[in-house]
Amino acid sequence: MKIVVIGGSGLIGSKLVVTLREHGQEAVAASPKSGVNTLTGEGLAEALKGASVAVDVTNSPSWEDAAVMNFFETSTRNLLAYEAGAGVGHHVALSVVGTERLLASGFFRAKMAQENLIKASSTPYSIIRATQFFEFVKGIADFSTDGNTVRLPSALIQPMAADDVASAVARIAMGSPVNSHSNEGFIYDDCKTSLNAGLSDVRRSGTQRRESDAALLERPGGLSWQGRSDDHGCVSTGRVGPNTSPQRTCVCLCA
Ligand SMILES: NC(=O)c1ccc[n+]([C@@H]2O[C@H](COP(=O)([O-])OP(=O)(O)OC[C@H]3O[C@@H](n4cnc5c(N)ncnc54)[C@H](OP(=O)(O)O)[C@@H]3O)[C@@H](O)[C@H]2O)c1
Repeated sequence: MKIVVIGGSGLIGSKLVVTLREHGQEAVAASPKSGVNTLTGEGLAEALKGASVAVDVTNSPSWEDAAVMNFFETSTRNLLAYEAGAGVGHHVALSVVGTERLLASGFFRAKMAQENLIKASSTPYSIIRATQFFEFVKGIADFSTDGNTVRLPSALIQPMAADDVASAVARIAMGSPVNSHSNEGFIYDDCKTSLNAGLSDVRRSGTQRRESDAALLERPGGLSWQGRSDDHGCVSTGRVGPNTSPQRTCVCLCA
């Protein structure tokens, strides 16, 4: 089966392409680096020719409010239109757990717009919502750092490894559309509901000062991470650094 991975050069996309090929699929990585641009439409018709599935794991180069909204709206519209033209039977997109609760953020408003365009389209689809990737935790710390201070919200998250996200997306991409305009939620693995766990215990390290009660943050030498069980028994623990090895992760498909 030909599966086109739009954003196939990215963190999740590159892992996804490998995983799909390991499962015998004809996975095609598509992104501006290979001449496929969802903003302009360049290369989309050729890339999607003969494809059964298109997976959207793109991300906007800019997270400025207007830019990110333009990216996800324009990209998604273009992609869905070209998919319809090519007869693609399954649109898979990667989104974020809790998107509808984070609309104060321009990024999440854009992800919500992306989801809504997909749901309104005539293409059968699966929207997969993942929690923050372990690999993204350093990015969160970086953009939360001001001089010697790391300011983290006391918001709860439950990170998961990009490898696990890619595996989950691959499984869904190789299956039937799970959310084909249905309002029925779909539960994957042992995750029972939206995911909340701890960005717990920011630990003073060097010159950093304590800013919240949660999350373990250690620098330099990598970021240690301890997830927490939520009310529904989801637990995720792991370490961001050379030996990232989360013990258990969850992903939800959303209606
Ligand atoms: N970060 C998290 O914790 C998290 C959690 C849940 C869900 N997600 C979602 O997961 C998705 C993938 O994230 P990621 O971290 O894997 O992204 P990433 O590593 O930043 O990769 C982004 C990809 O998008 C491609 N791209 C950028 N502009 C494009 C365009 N105009 N046309 C086609 N492709 C374009 C890039 O291609 P080039 O390399 O060619 O530029 C690259 O392949 C995102 O939608 C994000 O919202 C992220």
